[in-house]
Amino acid sequence: MAAFVKIARISDLPERRGKFVRIEDEELALFKIDGKVYAIGNVCPHQHISALHQGELNGLCITCPMHGWTYSLETGLAEGGSGRVITYPVKIVGENVFVEVQSE
Ligand code: FES
Repeated sequence: MAAFVKIARISDLPERRGKFVRIEDEELALFKIDGKVYAIGNVCPHQHISALHQGELNGLCITCPMHGWTYSLETGLAEGGSGRVITYPVKIVGENVFVEVQSE
């Protein structure tokens, strides 16, 4: 079952810099860009390293700091490859940021 979980306050998120958060066993990277928040899995599919929150943003794409694979924050798809990171629906209510995760 999917449920929205409060994950941060919008004012706690730095603009255009990744923030690492953990929800139970899931590791996420949040990015606030022009007031909109994107949530993706923090683990890069290339070598399964939890590093995407430290990556470099270019528009709405994040480049993994390890070996440079680049993913869309909107779709999770890797540019020029077949990899894909998880993307999570995000809802902002007032000051609070919620992310939809699967729970049992
Ligand atoms: S682990 Fe991300 S590009 Fe290699």
